[in-house]
Amino acid sequence: MIIGILGAGKMAQMLVPKLVSGEHRVILSNSRGPASLQALVEKLGPGVSAMESRKMLADADLVILATPWEKTAAAVAAAGSWAGKVVIDTTNNRRGPRPEDLIDIGGRGSSEVVAELLWGASVVKTFNYEPIPVFAGGLPPEGDSGAIFFSGDDAQAKEKVAQLIRDIGGEPIDVGSLAEGGKLHGMGGPLSLKMKLLAPKEAKALLAKARQVEK
Ligand SMILES: NC(=O)c1ccc[n+]([C@@H]2O[C@H](COP(=O)([O-])OP(=O)(O)OC[C@H]3O[C@@H](n4cnc5c(N)ncnc54)[C@H](OP(=O)(O)O)[C@@H]3O)[C@@H](O)[C@H]2O)c1
Repeated sequence: MIIGILGAGKMAQMLVPKLVSGEHRVILSNSRGPASLQALVEKLGPGVSAMESRKMLADADLVILATPWEKTAAAVAAAGSWAGKVVIDTTNNRRGPRPEDLIDIGGRGSSEVVAELLWGASVVKTFNYEPIPVFAGGLPPEGDSGAIFFSGDDAQAKEKVAQLIRDIGGEPIDVGSLAEGGKLHGMGGPLSLKMKLLAPKEAKALLAKARQVEK
């Protein structure tokens, strides 16, 4: 697949090597234009390029959203029409790592809010629930693949993302819809901030327990 990434910071740079080694091509984009990403593209190596976000969105088979929360609305608006796109939302409603950095969104799931910005797209939430170094170091571990929680409302989009997770060595764990599942692995949810990647068995047990508590 051609995978576009909106935002080329820490999240994007953690994912790119895994995506390229999974035999996908990656197009990076940011607000400052492809020239500002040239050195990074060269550093990341073959299979990676940079484009204006409009061109990235038009060319990509799947797009990963990796912008800071407060920049996301402007970033997606500038990229054009999202209709028909499968989008992975990695964003969290926070300004930084401290508890007081959380941005109040009235108790909604953050990917539900993001999905409203992406008219006609199918949004799948994943890669959001651990600090970047946990994903960077932990995937794929020797012998036992790391469980990766994901949620969404469109079965076909979810299968596409599940396959992508397998391609990069992970074990996809379906948490359910954006509204209910998304909150479980959204910031502050019971599946977030375990500070390590879980083995699939451990992840499924945690999910069952979290669902039990929600009832
Ligand atoms: N840090 C973590 O451990 C972690 C873990 C899980 C999830 N996340 C989430 O991942 C997302 C990205 O975090 P990050 O740590 O990668 O942030 P980051 O390092 O600050 O990178 C943000 C990127 O977004 C780009 N950007 C900013 N405004 C833009 C716009 N209007 N249009 C297009 N691109 C724009 C920035 O480039 P320009 O400024 O040059 O445009 C930059 O490349 C956040 O929502 C965060 O909550 C982070």
